[in-house]
Amino acid sequence: MVLVSGSGTNLQALLDAAADDAFGAAVVAVGADRDGIEGLARAERAAVPTFVVRVGDHATRAAWDAALAARIAEYKPDLVVSAGFMKILGPSVLDAWPVVNTHPALLPAFPGAHAVHDALAYGVRVTGCTVHLVDAGVDTGPVIAQEAVAVRDEDDEASLHERIKTVERRLLVEVVGRLAREGWHTRGRRVRFGRVAQPGDTTQEEHP
Ligand code: GRF
Repeated sequence: MVLVSGSGTNLQALLDAAADDAFGAAVVAVGADRDGIEGLARAERAAVPTFVVRVGDHATRAAWDAALAARIAEYKPDLVVSAGFMKILGPSVLDAWPVVNTHPALLPAFPGAHAVHDALAYGVRVTGCTVHLVDAGVDTGPVIAQEAVAVRDEDDEASLHERIKTVERRLLVEVVGRLAREGWHTRGRRVRFGRVAQPGDTTQEEHP
């Protein structure tokens, strides 16, 4: 199941990949924190069920998190993918499912909602994207995969973000497919594909 807040091009890449049975995963539902976004329209066009759970409709952040978890639970997903979902998830969701997020920078550099702007403003020559497991912090969870993107002299935020997103979509599809087909386990912060784990490793069933 995929969570979105915006244009949903990462979601589209997952929908396109999942059209092939060999991908090993299906998008069972798409959830959002707001109405009227292209991400929801993409799901509807693909005949995938959607739901919206707005923070503003709930008295507290915890109540929102619980309501979101209740909607996700209806679809019994094995994995939740945050693909441009611009809200911090709470324990009701994070304790119930493994959650994977895609971030448009090479974490731990430039966490947060303005990663592309921050990387440009810092003046780095190389940035990129990170697909990681989500924990309670902001973009602090264990890294699954990363790929670099060079910054060009003429880049502005839009041009750089577009180039990052081209890489991000491919990397997210690759990672979600492998997680579904091969499973994963973690040793400390290091994530490895494959279900075979050694004593002391955390397996995916414990959804770290
Ligand atoms: C992606 O770059 C994601 O990492 C960031 O927002 C963008 C979402 O793009 N948080 P889209 O909605 O998938 O097109």
